[in-house]
Amino acid sequence: MTEQTGIHGLWRSRWLFILAATGSAVGLGNIWKFPYITGENGGGAFVLVYLVCIALIGIPVMIAEVTLGRMGRQSPINTMQALVKDQGAHKMWSGIGWMGAVAGFFILSFYSVIAGWALAYIFRMGGGVFDGATAESAGEVFGGLIGDPEGLLAWHTIFLVITIAIVARGVNKGLEKAISVLMPLLFLILVVLLGYSMSSESFGAGFHFLFDVDFSKLTGESIVVALGHAFFTLSLGMGAIMAYGAYMPKGASIGKTVLTVAFLDTLIALVAGLVIFPIVFANGMEPSAGPGLLFQTLPVAFANMPGGTLFGTLFFVLVSFAALSSAISLGEPVVAWAVEKRGVSRANAATWIGIITWVLGIGTVLSFNLWSEYKLFGKTFFDTLDFLTANIMLPLGGLLIALFVGWSMRESDFQAEAGLPPMLFKALRFVLMFIAPAGVLFIFANGLGLV
Ligand code: TRP
Repeated sequence: MTEQTGIHGLWRSRWLFILAATGSAVGLGNIWKFPYITGENGGGAFVLVYLVCIALIGIPVMIAEVTLGRMGRQSPINTMQALVKDQGAHKMWSGIGWMGAVAGFFILSFYSVIAGWALAYIFRMGGGVFDGATAESAGEVFGGLIGDPEGLLAWHTIFLVITIAIVARGVNKGLEKAISVLMPLLFLILVVLLGYSMSSESFGAGFHFLFDVDFSKLTGESIVVALGHAFFTLSLGMGAIMAYGAYMPKGASIGKTVLTVAFLDTLIALVAGLVIFPIVFANGMEPSAGPGLLFQTLPVAFANMPGGTLFGTLFFVLVSFAALSSAISLGEPVVAWAVEKRGVSRANAATWIGIITWVLGIGTVLSFNLWSEYKLFGKTFFDTLDFLTANIMLPLGGLLIALFVGWSMRESDFQAEAGLPPMLFKALRFVLMFIAPAGVLFIFANGLGLV
């Protein structure tokens, strides 16, 4: 395959790739989604299934995605097309790139709306709206926010414009610069918050909720959600990590890099859980509050701690930054494709993609207010989009990537790029050929009530 660095540039070092991939992985998925779905799905047993999915399916698929990206050195769509040709594989495999692009649009459209909530909260917190907040008053402020379609639309617009502006500036100028500032800051603020939650009396209760395993709380759907979240949180299955892999320097070790990213991502999710659940229990709240969990519970805690206004404001700044570095990676694959294919400028491509995503996002905005009663199989527009992407499209994308690498590529070509020690490579190949596909298929079938 091509040795050139491509038209989009390269990360300047392995460390910057780790930062970028971690920036993509760590986001609303860790801080907003992981706690609320853990709360909805009963805690420890769900967390255990999620961790197993990360280890057995997520990490191997991530190695595969990064390797494919570095082989192709282009956008996921063109990388897959080039690899399919090069490997003499069936054309249908290039569908991986296309489905990923669609999933990316869908995810970015709702991601931007939720990130807008975080942006709105920076100003509500900073403006003292939550001073002296109780569970009730915090719930009212949240209800007021999501009940106001114009407000949500405005925040969605602001978040998306910032995202698109960064993507438009390209890998080295835009992405690298933004990420190398945002990520270290994020770690710092989270550590401060963990210190606070560890000093709370309910720390034990939160800890037990997260780590005590009770399998009777697991349903077929919980397992599907756990698998889907393993993909969502690692940014897998739609080409985001493939696109980032395309900008990875040649000499960098893919295995070590992926392990680092997966470790950091998991650590951040668990820390977020350890920050949030003690606060939930200390204030007699419900872990199963749903998408509003983060936004309804934390303000109460901040109201009750010294310096809470400052910490609360910082916290939502952190969430917004984490969301931004993830959103960038959702937009990058399609923008890179448009630049390669159509020869349009990055700025133009990013703008058009921003406009389409913005329109789609209106559906999510309305899901929480005017359209909240319109449901398909009990799910709002937002719920449907979230379920379809995270729990179906991403695992399906991951399944196809595993099968393509495991069954359709020449082993030696893949190994030449992946550069793993021989024993590890054998193990990885076995997992990609059998374990990961069987795991995804079993969980799908189980979710449908077939097994
Ligand atoms: N992983 C991010 C999070 O946890 C979201 C995300 C970014 C993503 N890029 C992705 C999810 C690509 C799926 C696919 O918030």
